[in-house]
Amino acid sequence: MRILTGIQSTGIPHLGNLLGAILPAIELGRASGNDAFLFIADLHSFTTVRDPRTLRENTHAVAAAWLACGLDVDQVTFYRQSDVPQVAELAWYLGCLTPYPMLANAHSFKDKSADVSQVNAGLFYYPVLMAADILLYDTDRVPVGKDQKQHVEITRDIASAFNRAYGEDTFVMPEARIDDRLMTIPGTDGRKMSKSYGNTINIFLPEKELKKQVMGIVTDSKSLEEPKEPEGDTVFQLYKVLAHPTDITAMEDNYRAGGYGYGHAKKELLELLLTRFSEERRRFQELMDDRGELDRQLAVGAGKARTVATLTLERVRGRTGYGTER
Ligand code: TRP
Repeated sequence: MRILTGIQSTGIPHLGNLLGAILPAIELGRASGNDAFLFIADLHSFTTVRDPRTLRENTHAVAAAWLACGLDVDQVTFYRQSDVPQVAELAWYLGCLTPYPMLANAHSFKDKSADVSQVNAGLFYYPVLMAADILLYDTDRVPVGKDQKQHVEITRDIASAFNRAYGEDTFVMPEARIDDRLMTIPGTDGRKMSKSYGNTINIFLPEKELKKQVMGIVTDSKSLEEPKEPEGDTVFQLYKVLAHPTDITAMEDNYRAGGYGYGHAKKELLELLLTRFSEERRRFQELMDDRGELDRQLAVGAGKARTVATLTLERVRGRTGYGTER
């Protein structure tokens, strides 16, 4: 079974991305005998990112984070979307069979189209490129969050239209796998950790900056002496996600006993982050300092992806009237 999913390249992944998406996906890839395709959706980023350095930096940071967390490029086809430009060609064919209203009704577009003068056509076209991402690789399953479900449905609609016109075996019909059990990790202000809230904790930052984020976690104003309730406190919530059960109980007892301040808890949390992710932090830095190595790792996947992409495109070209008839 071929499983494929895309990762947004919005910069250095934070703890929420790590625990909610990266580690479970790597685990899943190891556990199943599936043929997994995982790519960094850097062409999609061009709908918003205009600075070349930021674009390249974001892609590298995402790649380094996944590799640092143990992704094995010999096991998973891990590539940069832009390294397989065939996807843009397929998107063109698909777009010509996509009814305009289908794209006008996509949430991703509607949400941002209050002021249409501010919207570029790329944002409007986003779901077609995503359909091409999926159909180019004969994908069976697409694990995504709830917010992407509609995009996979659009992909299915486009694939059906194409198959009706050019033969039922042109495209494999993909299915979304929505995982809503995924953990949500609280951010420094107690809301869901998200880059757009500015409340992230980033384990790949230098120690000093990471410390600043941890120390900035918002707590109530109970004094050091007062007993505290662990469950409602964000420092404890984060500690609980990562610590050993005995250490969790110890911290709970400290909270309830009093004489233990939030500063103490934050210090313990910071130490836990530094030890738990020491290897990942080291590896991330190593890769970010050696872009050649990073690009070589990405090239392994790009090669594998291109082989599949070329076959699919030959099929599509032949049937649509381009290239050799098939
Ligand atoms: N749009 C997806 C997101 O915002 C990322 C993505 C791009 C994707 N292409 C994809 C996901 C193909 C799954 C399959 O998260």
